[in-house]
Amino acid sequence: MPVTQPTVHVTNHLDHDYLRQALEHDVRTGLTASPKWLPSKWFYDAAGSDLFSQITRLPEYYPTRRELAILRERAGDIARRSGADTLVELGSGTSEKTVLLLDALAASSLRAYMPVDVDAVTLGDAARRLAARYPGVTVQGVCADFERHLALLPRTGRRMVAFLGGTIGNLGPAAREVFLKELRDTLRAGDSLLLGADLVKDTGRLVAAYDDAAGVTAAFNRNVLHVINRELGADFEPDAFAHVALYDAPNDWIEMRLRATRPMLVQVRDLALPVRFAAGEEMRTEISAKFRPAGLRAELVAAGFTVDRLYTDPDGDFSLTLAKV
Ligand code: SAH
Ligand code: AVI
Repeated sequence: MPVTQPTVHVTNHLDHDYLRQALEHDVRTGLTASPKWLPSKWFYDAAGSDLFSQITRLPEYYPTRRELAILRERAGDIARRSGADTLVELGSGTSEKTVLLLDALAASSLRAYMPVDVDAVTLGDAARRLAARYPGVTVQGVCADFERHLALLPRTGRRMVAFLGGTIGNLGPAAREVFLKELRDTLRAGDSLLLGADLVKDTGRLVAAYDDAAGVTAAFNRNVLHVINRELGADFEPDAFAHVALYDAPNDWIEMRLRATRPMLVQVRDLALPVRFAAGEEMRTEISAKFRPAGLRAELVAAGFTVDRLYTDPDGDFSLTLAKV
C-alpha cells in the first residue's frame, strides 16, 4: 500500500524572482572579481544536495560521523540543558542527524520543528518525512537564506537553534561575525544555539576529506557550474575545470577551487557577460573553516552568547557547542 505523506507547511522567502536576482548578483560580482570566486550556497540545488549526502558517507569525510557520535552520546544532555520545546535548524538539508535531537526533545516537551534551507526540494522531503515520524509535532519548513532572513524566522516557543555539520565554517570570519550577532539578536532569554564546528587537525586528513578518491567532492564542486549553466544560460564546460582542495594553514580553512585546464571564454548569456579564464586560473568556490575551541568560544562570546557546554567526539575531531543568550 502506498504510504500517505502528511502535508506540511513550507514558508518560502526565496521566490523565483528573489533567487534569480541573488544568483545574478553573485555571479556577476564573483566572475568579474580578481581572483574569481562564487558563494558556496549555489552548490545546493537538488543534485548538489544529493552529492552532499553522498559526501557524508565517504570514508574520507569524517565530520558527519563524528557529529553523529557526539549526538548519540549527548543528545539527552543537550535537550535537558536547553529546555527547548521548539527546534529551529539552519541549513537543515536532509535533517538526518536531527532525528537524534528530535527524539531527545520529544521525550520531554517538543512542540515544533522548523527546518530552514535554501534547497526547497530537499527541505520539503525532509519536512514531510519528519512530520510523519513525529505526528504530534508541528513541522514547518522555511525556505530562506540564513545570511539574509534570520529576522523573518518564526519566534514562537522556547527555541533551540541548531546549526549543524560545520556549515558555520562555510562563512568567512567577517560574515560569521555578522551572522552570529544577527542570530543572537533574534533570540530571547532562555533560547539557545547548538553549533556544530569542525576542529583543526592533521592537514592530510583535512585535505583528503575534501578531495576524496571516488571524486564525489569534485562533482559537488563542479555542480555550481551546472547550476549557472541551467539558471543563467551560461556555457561552462564543467569537465574542463579541475577540482582543487587545499588547506590554508594561516587562516585555518580548507579552500575549494575550480582550476581552468585550458584557456576558455565562457558566455553567461542572461547577464550578457563574457568571462575569460587563463589556463591554470583558479576560482574559489568554498571555504570550510576549521576551529580551535578557544577561538570558537571567543567568537560566540563576542556575539553575546554564553557558552554552556562544548562537547567533542573522543578523537577531538569535531565539536558541538551549546550556547545560551
Ligand atoms: N545540516 C546538514 C546539511 C549540511 S550541508 C548536515 O549537517 O549534514 C549545508 C546545508 O546548508 C545544505 O542543505 C544547503 O542547502 C544549506 N545552505 C547553504 N547555504 C545556505 C544559506 N545561505 N541559507 C540557508 N541554507 C543554506
Ligand atoms: C556543508 N559544509 C559544512 C560542508 C563542509 O565540509 O564544509 C560542505 C562540503 N564541501 C565539500 N565537502 C563538503
